Amino acid sequence: MPTTELPVDLHLETHPYPLVPDAQQELIQLLRTEWNRTDYDWLEAMNGDYGSNLAITSIVARRRGEAVATATVHHHRTCPEAAVLGGVLTRRQHRGHGIGGRVVAAALAVAQRAGCVLCLLGTAKSPTNLYSRNGFDWIRGSVMRRALTPADAVPDIFAPEQATTLRAADWGDLPGLSLLAAQPLATACLDFPRGLFSSRYVSPERCLSNFPVLWYDTVVRGGALQVVEGAQAGRVLGFGSISRGAGSGRRHTGTIDLCLHDAHIHLQPELLASLLDQCRVLGLSQVDAWVAGLDEAKQDCLRDAGFVEQARLPSALVVGEEPVAAVLLGREL
Ligand SMILES: CC(C)(COP(=O)(O)OP(=O)(O)OC[C@H]1O[C@@H](n2cnc3c(N)ncnc32)[C@H](O)[C@@H]1OP(=O)(O)O)[C@@H](O)C(=O)NCCC(=O)NCCS
Repeated sequence: MPTTELPVDLHLETHPYPLVPDAQQELIQLLRTEWNRTDYDWLEAMNGDYGSNLAITSIVARRRGEAVATATVHHHRTCPEAAVLGGVLTRRQHRGHGIGGRVVAAALAVAQRAGCVLCLLGTAKSPTNLYSRNGFDWIRGSVMRRALTPADAVPDIFAPEQATTLRAADWGDLPGLSLLAAQPLATACLDFPRGLFSSRYVSPERCLSNFPVLWYDTVVRGGALQVVEGAQAGRVLGFGSISRGAGSGRRHTGTIDLCLHDAHIHLQPELLASLLDQCRVLGLSQVDAWVAGLDEAKQDCLRDAGFVEQARLPSALVVGEEPVAAVLLGREL
């Protein structure tokens, strides 16, 4: 329970993005009391650059005119299913009065009203925390989850029998990709260039930041990010990345990787073919892929698509404290 009673003069405001300049400035000042940067570019997000398919809403708690706490929730704009919470912060001098709990509860209410069925977040592992007190349970590593509907109303999001579409990723995929990455997938390495691993093998360190780290490092640098979408918009069953080589001497090269939910692993060749088509569109002539030694199905899929082993680094990876080889496969286009 909070150490003292919730202040009676606390007012909660709900700010859907895009934010007007004054609200942007105030929220950035508040966030900067703790962080210089977080998972994504604040200005781009607050200006609405990510907003065509991603609804972002910040809760601001105000006391005697001063913004004292905030929390931000993200969900797909037209098909809300998973929500992701982030940016939870109370100014130091106002902590321990239950204000953090109030902004979290208000952010969850936004997601619930929108129709989301669950909410995820990433935080440092500790036995009790603000989020356990607000109904979140640890799932794996630093990731916590809270249902927003009764358990029997949560759909089988990764059900095998559902329509699938392959398309370019967009910011509306942030919640769906966070949820996929939190699953204990059989594929050990989800994305080699960013070091994203399945939570079945490695305690996950990321939640909300999975999508931004992929986006900024692929699309923004002239590569690409694709997703396998399920029966509703923003439901992510798999993803594939093309990371472009830097500089004039490496611009013709790309590193690809891909992963799928276990129930949809048969779509691996289709996703790979689509990534290779996109490599051609981007004008790449040399493509490689680093694959964990454990991921034999992925290696086979790449070999079937004409990739040839170039090198094998015996201890390039540590998976569950065990050294694991990484295999470099490559092909020309
Ligand atoms: C976490 C934070 C928002 C809590 O704000 P608050 O207004 O004090 O929250 P409440 O009064 O509702 O709850 C206090 C509880 O928060 C918990 N808490 C403190 N730091 C926390 C953290 N980093 N993550 C989760 N819970 C935390 C504690 O259990 C505390 O309980 P205690 O009084 O027994 O120590 C505040 O400490 C903060 O801004 N920390 C710095 C930024 C941060 O780490 N944010 C969380 C990112 S996941």
